[in-house]
Amino acid sequence: MNLFDVAGKHIVVTGSSSGLGHHFAGMLANAGAQLSLGARRLQRIEQRVAEIQAAGGSAFGSPLDVTEAASIQDFLQAAEAAFGPIDVLINNAGVEAGAKTYAMIDEADWDYVLNTNLKGAWLAAKLYTDRVLRNGQAAGNIINISSITDRRTIKGQFPYAVSKAALSRMTEVMALEAAKHNIRVNALAPGYVLTDVSRLLLEGEHSAQFVKGIPMRRYGAFADLDGPLLLLASNASSYMTGAILVVDGGHACASL
Ligand SMILES: NC(=O)c1ccc[n+]([C@@H]2O[C@H](COP(=O)([O-])OP(=O)(O)OC[C@H]3O[C@@H](n4cnc5c(N)ncnc54)[C@H](OP(=O)(O)O)[C@@H]3O)[C@@H](O)[C@H]2O)c1
Repeated sequence: MNLFDVAGKHIVVTGSSSGLGHHFAGMLANAGAQLSLGARRLQRIEQRVAEIQAAGGSAFGSPLDVTEAASIQDFLQAAEAAFGPIDVLINNAGVEAGAKTYAMIDEADWDYVLNTNLKGAWLAAKLYTDRVLRNGQAAGNIINISSITDRRTIKGQFPYAVSKAALSRMTEVMALEAAKHNIRVNALAPGYVLTDVSRLLLEGEHSAQFVKGIPMRRYGAFADLDGPLLLLASNASSYMTGAILVVDGGHACASL
């Protein structure tokens, strides 16, 4: 018995044109899931879809801007037309505002980060839930990609850390409210993995010092997240909802 089986599940990954979402799409397709991929850079999405199909997987791609309700609605509709009702929504799209403090950011920075990381995840979850109910689906599954900055952070990650703290709290509140529909809502909270979101910090002058604060003494690799994501996406986590699954080499529990 494969506890972590996702074969045949229809899984949506928002923000799958690069980084973690791009990786998750390939990993889940390899595991037999049907993937619907969306982001603003359509050419990259189309390229990822072609790669997955060339490797024998099932994937569909469509433009998506999670800050626009109409775009999410169109995307979810197109995804359902491709593969039918959606089993799992992975709210992965996320941005940061550069190395800025609360005194340095302006309103545009605040709106950009909060509208993508928090409002976008709420909108996608809301519109997905509408569909689960309308379709008469027996169950639904939402996975929010949060971050260990939801609980511990360093100077200059404002308002990213604020958005992730709220996203983790939103996960718990949604779990409470969605349980009656048999919709589970959990979060994956990775530590630092080298992608466009983290490049500034991980390739910066303080990187060597920073990595010493991680008990396992290394940054995360994409593959470190595969098992935890499969747990949340599969029926192996059938009694988990409202959980924030931290995957960070011990970084969030490191001594001060
Ligand atoms: N890397 C890390 O160390 C780390 C740690 C913890 C959590 N995370 C989280 O992991 C998630 C993925 O980030 P990443 O590190 O993989 O960075 P990334 O490579 O920059 O990926 C971010 C993705 O989000 C998409 N996106 C941004 N704004 C969007 C919008 N309005 N609508 C739709 N898609 C949008 C981007 O695609 P387009 O630009 O094409 O739209 C891109 O595919 C984020 O939520 C991030 O906060 C990352």
